[in-house]
Amino acid sequence: MEDILDKKNAEALLGGGAERIAAQHKKGKLTARERVELLLDAGSFEEIGKFVMHRCKDFGLEKEYYLGDGVVTGYGTVNGRLVYVFSQDFTVLGGSMSETNAEKICKIMDLALQNGAPLIGLNDSGGARIQEGVNSLGGYADIFYRNVLASGVVPQISAIMGPCAGGAVYSPAITDFILMTQNTSYMFVTGPNVVKTVTHEEVSSEELGGASTHSTKSGVTHFACANELECIQTIKQILSFVPQNCEEDAPFLPYTPADELRPELNNIVPANPNQPYDMREVIQGIIDAEHGFLEIHKDFAENMVIGFARIGGRSIGIVGNQPAVLAGCLDIKSSTKAARFVRFCDSFNIPLLVLVDVPGFLPGTDQEWNGIITNGAKLLYAFSEATVPRVTVITRKAYGGAYDVMNSKHIGADMNFAWTNAEIAVMGAKGAAEIIFRNEIQKADNPEAKLQEKVDDYTEKFANPYRAAHRGFIDEVIRPAETRKKLLAAFKMLENKVAKLPKKKHGNIPL
Ligand code: HXC
Repeated sequence: MEDILDKKNAEALLGGGAERIAAQHKKGKLTARERVELLLDAGSFEEIGKFVMHRCKDFGLEKEYYLGDGVVTGYGTVNGRLVYVFSQDFTVLGGSMSETNAEKICKIMDLALQNGAPLIGLNDSGGARIQEGVNSLGGYADIFYRNVLASGVVPQISAIMGPCAGGAVYSPAITDFILMTQNTSYMFVTGPNVVKTVTHEEVSSEELGGASTHSTKSGVTHFACANELECIQTIKQILSFVPQNCEEDAPFLPYTPADELRPELNNIVPANPNQPYDMREVIQGIIDAEHGFLEIHKDFAENMVIGFARIGGRSIGIVGNQPAVLAGCLDIKSSTKAARFVRFCDSFNIPLLVLVDVPGFLPGTDQEWNGIITNGAKLLYAFSEATVPRVTVITRKAYGGAYDVMNSKHIGADMNFAWTNAEIAVMGAKGAAEIIFRNEIQKADNPEAKLQEKVDDYTEKFANPYRAAHRGFIDEVIRPAETRKKLLAAFKMLENKVAKLPKKKHGNIPL
């Protein structure tokens, strides 16, 4: 008996065989098992379904069997914390999705959901197993359904390390984070050949759906990784900031308390309100230096910066306007990017820090015709329904509707700070003066001087944080250098926050 077990184990470990493993390596890709080894703590992997085989009797498959059937599934630990993992094995029939292959994935998804631990999918598959027809499609839908059930219950992470085409893309799309490897992965609903037939466009797989495309143009992927090692390290970084499930808090990591004043913050915002600066410098001046900032969607909608960091050892989600790109205005892409992140953080009890320097919404037909109204509303909705601790710091401009949207007091933020140089108003002073004093300016002997007088008047009244502070819309006006100190105190004060939304089945976010 022992001999049979040894033999079967050895056979299963070989997947599609030595030749196909060599071909996989030649493409610069690791095998399914090598990826799992790299992801999990050494020796922690427990495999489930190692000897599962397909049941297909058509198109020659009745003579072609592989133990495990093209996907490695099981559980293990990452930095001592339980995770469930599936890893598609391209060496077995191109990692294609069979009925039994899907059953294996569903089994660990059910376990992840019932036991409250993250699910990680390492995708590398030629799609539906063509020999199986509709059985394979059913398997995909079984997975999609579980992705949706698990959404908001356990964190779900998808790494795309090879092909991912057709409806197969929708499982990763439902998960919380997608990572793609540069030059060895792609995602699209229809490939270059179909595109050419239908629209007559000539496009390569890489251009249509490679990591660069999806990390810059579509925003489908949150991370474009230089290689598989970087991809797996990034998965581990994400896990370090998130809890195991929606009932828990993210792990607390020790930090070194020090003099928490950061004088360098006083020098980041330029004196000229029209000059850009990099919000990432503000972030670096606020967070625990030893834990760093994991930026998400770095190359997509760059007018908004989002990512994980720690303050006082607590994991937080940061959402910040980026004045260095499009003056930090809100547009369709930045609104949806931030909204999805806010909802992730709220689902998993991760407090939010919002850094505001926003001149308003991006004007133009492109934005209006493509639905800035609906898309901007997503961010407004996401902040409004978030019940985690929410702290805002206005570093410079907070104008118009964008002031309301960016985690203002009015939509439920807990603590709102403004730097001494902040400008909180309906619009910029020049635009405001031109509208409300148009007649007076036109009739003046010297219209330019009159305009300047009115601009100065408006600036004095509104281009400061004090009007808003008088009304209680701002809880405290602070000097930039004090920001970290204030945030440490605020997030500690809010750590036991309990807030509930009105009873409902679920809201109807403007999708
Ligand atoms: C069965 C498949 C397969 C598939 C690949 N293979 N895809 N077997 N079903 N979907 C097999 C190949 O026959 C080959 O077997 C081995 O996997 C490796 O494939 P190669 O073509 O040699 O590799 P490569 O050149 O790297 O090309 C990879 C590929 C190509 C681009 C993915 O294999 C391909 O185009 N496959 C078909 C993709 C496809 O049309 N899938 C169905 C999409 S529809 P041997 O024995 O020669 O090693 C779909 C619907 C999902 O997925 C809907 C969900 C709702």
